[in-house]
Amino acid sequence: QKLQMSLDQIEKGGFDHFMLKEIHEQPKAITDTFRGRMLVEENMIKMSSIDDNLDKFLNANRIIIIACGTSWHAGLVGEYLFEDMARIPVEVEYASEFRYRNPIITNKDVVIAISQSGETADTLAAIKLAKSKGAFVYGVCNVVGSSIARETHSGAYTHAGPEIGVASTKAFTTQITVLTLIALKLGKANGSLADHTFKDYLKKMQLIPRQVEKLLKIDEHVKSIAAVYKDATNCLYLGRGFNFPVALEGALKLKEISYIHAEGYPAAEMKHGPIALIDENMPIFVIATNRGHYEKVVSNIQEIKSRAGKIIAVVTEGDTQVREIADHVIEVPDTEEALTPLLTTIPLQLLSYHIAVMLGKNVDQPRNLAKSVTVE
Ligand code: G6P
Repeated sequence: QKLQMSLDQIEKGGFDHFMLKEIHEQPKAITDTFRGRMLVEENMIKMSSIDDNLDKFLNANRIIIIACGTSWHAGLVGEYLFEDMARIPVEVEYASEFRYRNPIITNKDVVIAISQSGETADTLAAIKLAKSKGAFVYGVCNVVGSSIARETHSGAYTHAGPEIGVASTKAFTTQITVLTLIALKLGKANGSLADHTFKDYLKKMQLIPRQVEKLLKIDEHVKSIAAVYKDATNCLYLGRGFNFPVALEGALKLKEISYIHAEGYPAAEMKHGPIALIDENMPIFVIATNRGHYEKVVSNIQEIKSRAGKIIAVVTEGDTQVREIADHVIEVPDTEEALTPLLTTIPLQLLSYHIAVMLGKNVDQPRNLAKSVTVE
C-alpha cells in the first residue's frame, strides 16, 4: 500500500498536510538549530557571528528587533530573553512601521532582523534604512542565501529546513532557539548571568526537543478540545511575560488557517477591553505555566470563570490549581520560564491545525495569505 503513495504524500512525509509535518519536525529542527552551537559539556555557546562582533553587541545602547508576522512574535520573545538574560534594552518593531517612521538610529544600535524567508519586503527595506544610519545589522533567517541574509552585516541561520505551510510553525520555534542562544551567550559574556545559571539553562535547553516530542503525543487530546470549539466565532488568547507573545502567536495561527477571529492579549490587559466580550460562547485560551506570574494568571482565570467564559488552560504537568477552575487543561513539561514558549506554542499550533481541518479549510494555503510577502 505504501507503494501507492502519491508524490504529494511522499513530500508530506506521510502527514496529511505540510503544516502537520512541520509541527512534528520541531524536535529535530530545534536540535539542528542548537547543534554545534550549544556545547553543554564545555559550558559554552559557540557562535562565530556573535564572537566576531561581540564588542558591537556588548557596547550597544540597545537592540532593535525588526520583523513581520510570526517572526515579529519571535522577536517579542527575544525582547524578554535579552532583557532577562543579558540586561540589554530591547525594542521590537514591525518592519513596516519602523521604515516609515523616521526612527532614531545611531551607530551604537544593533538591529536584529528576523525573517523565515529572508525576502519580506518591509523587513528588507527596514534593514537598508538601519544600515544607512550606521547601525550594525544582524540577521536571523531560515532560507540560506536569501536577500535578507545577504543584506545584513552578519547573522545566524535557523536550521528549520524548508517550511512549506503558509502558517509558520517550526520557523518560529527555531527563531526563538537562536534568540535564546544569543541572549545566553551575551548574558554570560557581560556577566549578567551567573555561571551556574548559564549552565542550568544549557541543560534545560538540551531537554527541550524531547519535551516537544512528548507534547506532540498529546495530539489526540488537543484534537478533542478542537472538536469542542471549532464552531466558535471569536476566541481570546491570554498570556503574561514570556508567554504573552505566545498568546499573540496562538491567535495568529487560528486566524490564519481557520478564519476564526482571534485576539491575543497580555492577560492583565483583559480588564481594559476584552473582558466586555466574555460570555458562555467565548473560548479563552490561557497560558498558565507554573513559574513567573502564575498566581496572577490564576486570578485572571477566575475573572473569566465568573463571567462564564470557557477556559482552556495550558499548564505545567502536575498542576492542580488551574485544573479545578478550567474547562480543559493541556499539560506541558516543566522547564525554566524563559524556555516555556518553546513548549507552550506546540499545543496551540496543533489546536489551530485541527480546527482548520475540521472546518475543511485549506490548511497549507489559506486564502489571501502568502508564504513570503515580497511586496509592501
Ligand atoms: C507572511 C507569512 C508569515 C510570516 C510573515 C513574515 O505573512 O505568511 O508566516 O510570519 O510573512 O515572513 P518572514 O519570512 O519575514 O518571516
